[in-house]
Amino acid sequence: MRVPKPHGFVDGVLLMDLILDGDGDVAPRLNDVELTAAEARDYHQVMMREIVKMLSAGLIHGDLSEYNVLLAPEGPIIIDLPQAVDAAANNNAERMLTRDVDNMTRYFGAFAPELLSIDYAGEIWSLFQLGNLSPEAPLTGTFKRSEKSADLAGVMREIDAALEENARRAGGDDDGEQGDSEEQDDEWQTR
Ligand SMILES: Nc1ncnc2c1ncn2[C@@H]1O[C@H](COP(=O)(O)OP(=O)(O)OP(=O)(O)O)[C@@H](O)[C@H]1O
Ligand SMILES: [Mg+2]
Repeated sequence: MRVPKPHGFVDGVLLMDLILDGDGDVAPRLNDVELTAAEARDYHQVMMREIVKMLSAGLIHGDLSEYNVLLAPEGPIIIDLPQAVDAAANNNAERMLTRDVDNMTRYFGAFAPELLSIDYAGEIWSLFQLGNLSPEAPLTGTFKRSEKSADLAGVMREIDAALEENARRAGGDDDGEQGDSEEQDDEWQTR
């Protein structure tokens, strides 16, 4: 995986490689750079492969965007992984994977618009579900974006799932005060 090499964990702080650009300065984030179409296509492929490798190991980054990818001379490096999720154990795994993939495709698609017409998330997720995903699994890029009109019920389900996920996280971060979390549960149920 293209991530900074960790060196140690001290007082709750993870020490890792400092990623540099070619001049020895701190590497820029993707959102700070302008790319040619050829670079965008190339880096997009690299990132799709990184996402495939991660998912092959059962993980989804969960907050992948141009703000959490640094551009080093050797190409993109992924940072900010603490919220990575276990794909098999998370009800929102498909939604999170799709968001990660679509964020990357939207970003690189601004420089190479042809990327935007292909449903990479759909292809990666279906390979994963069929048990056919491996780190080297070829992506055909033949999944076309659906051109059906918006599925309102589907959108509402997504929103409910996001609310549930938030409620679950709030429960997980609970400082132990039972009252708080019960009140919160009631509040969610009335929605
Ligand atoms: N290994 C690294 N090498 C160079 N710069 C880094 C490295 N890790 C983080 N940074 C810089 O620090 C910023 C914040 O890092 P990171 O995204 O992990 O933290 P965060 O708490 O999630 O912050 P944010 O809310 O900005 O996402 C990055 O956008 C990047 O500019
Ligand atoms: Mg970040």
